[in-house]
Amino acid sequence: MKEKIQFPKDFWWGAATSGPQSEGWYGKRHENVMDYWYRAQRNDFFNGVGPDVASDFYHKYKDDFAMCRQIGMNSFRTSIQWTRLIKDLETGEPDPEGVQFYKDVIAEAKKNGIILVMNLHHFDMPIELLQKYGGWESKHVVELFAKFAKTAFEAFGNDIEYWTTFNEPMVIPEAGYLYGFHYPKLVGKGKEAVQIIFNINLASAMAIQEYRKMHLNGEIGIILNLTPAYPRSDSKEDLDAAAFADDFFNRSFLDPAVFGTFPKTLIEILKKDNVLWESDEKELEIIKNNTVDFIGVNYYHPKRVKAPEADHFENWMPDRYFSDYDMPGKRMNPYRGWEIFPKAIYDIAKNVQDNYGNIKWFISENGMGVEGEEKYRKENGEIEDDYRIEFYEEHLAWLNKAIQEGSNCFGYHAWTPFDCWSWNNAYKNRYGFIAIDLNDQKRTIKKSGYWLKDVADNNGYEYDTDSIKE
Ligand code: BG6
Repeated sequence: MKEKIQFPKDFWWGAATSGPQSEGWYGKRHENVMDYWYRAQRNDFFNGVGPDVASDFYHKYKDDFAMCRQIGMNSFRTSIQWTRLIKDLETGEPDPEGVQFYKDVIAEAKKNGIILVMNLHHFDMPIELLQKYGGWESKHVVELFAKFAKTAFEAFGNDIEYWTTFNEPMVIPEAGYLYGFHYPKLVGKGKEAVQIIFNINLASAMAIQEYRKMHLNGEIGIILNLTPAYPRSDSKEDLDAAAFADDFFNRSFLDPAVFGTFPKTLIEILKKDNVLWESDEKELEIIKNNTVDFIGVNYYHPKRVKAPEADHFENWMPDRYFSDYDMPGKRMNPYRGWEIFPKAIYDIAKNVQDNYGNIKWFISENGMGVEGEEKYRKENGEIEDDYRIEFYEEHLAWLNKAIQEGSNCFGYHAWTPFDCWSWNNAYKNRYGFIAIDLNDQKRTIKKSGYWLKDVADNNGYEYDTDSIKE
């Protein structure tokens, strides 16, 4: 039966991008790991496309905000690039040109009535700090991040109401140190990954500490990719595997962010295996005392796990306690190779409601990357992305069900407002509400952009609620 799916008053309708993926390296003083990786190993990037200008947000932000407004967005997330804002990475001294750029961006968002969520780190470690100190493995770099954060709060603290410290911090150890799909492309470095998990939690808490010291009129949170770990079966072995995967990939950031502590079950295992991070009382105190005001949750696909099969790694790896489970018959997005499972958004919401004090939160990324969208372009130039609209409606229906049951969710951001550069996948899969032609950077609103406008105007949409099924 068709019913109106209604969202709470003042709900955020928007989308997220990041500095590196929308502005690229144009006009920056320093290089980040992704910029360097592209310069050094261009063949790792889809069609050899790099982040030189990316989607040229650097020059087109005025048009982009106007278009975002046109498609009904009341909120927008991007990130300040450490490598753009900071002139001296050791002292945190700002670069006046970087300051001016972000001031202009902030003013333009305001002019369009768009709430800006400003993030501080989106996989973009300055390459100098990786080469000189080992990046997130180093506590010195943690301190330099806190200096960068302080500079950002001093420059823009009065103009930004919503800050976040990190985007998907788990991806940094996972992609760079465990499974090698992002630079420095290391595989099997479990112990280093564990230290990085701790160090990034400390960096986030130290940034929050700087923020609180300034008594600004806003809020600060963190963006986490919470991926529920579903067990293959109800056997003890599979359930244990799922519990470990949840501890390691989700709770290792969620618990410190919300409670200021790490999951006991995780600490016990890491201690027993002799790979627990190095920390001292003072650092633990900082994490304890500097928790978040809200969380952003990025959700794309679930994690399915089973009892571990033979661990083929030389060093300690989390895979000692679980193996990935390739569930037969799962629904797939064939382009990105990710499972589509909308109900997980409900499960995440209930977990936050029941186990994390119903802290306020929003969906900070959700989306469907599709390759070759040109084939869906109509004569008038619009891309007819009905698959994306269906994907959003299904996810939003599950989210709404959780909100009806008391989940404290205040918004929904898709990935992404306009097509942007996806790291080594470059422009392979497009996610935007607005298409970008890479030949001339021309922007065209997709059908999903007009859909969003309708949904935002009505704060909901008509939906066949019988189809809310697993
Ligand atoms: C999230 C990231 O993991 O997913 C984004 O925060 C990223 O930076 C997005 O672009 C989509 O994933 P991908 O790998 O297709 O770009």
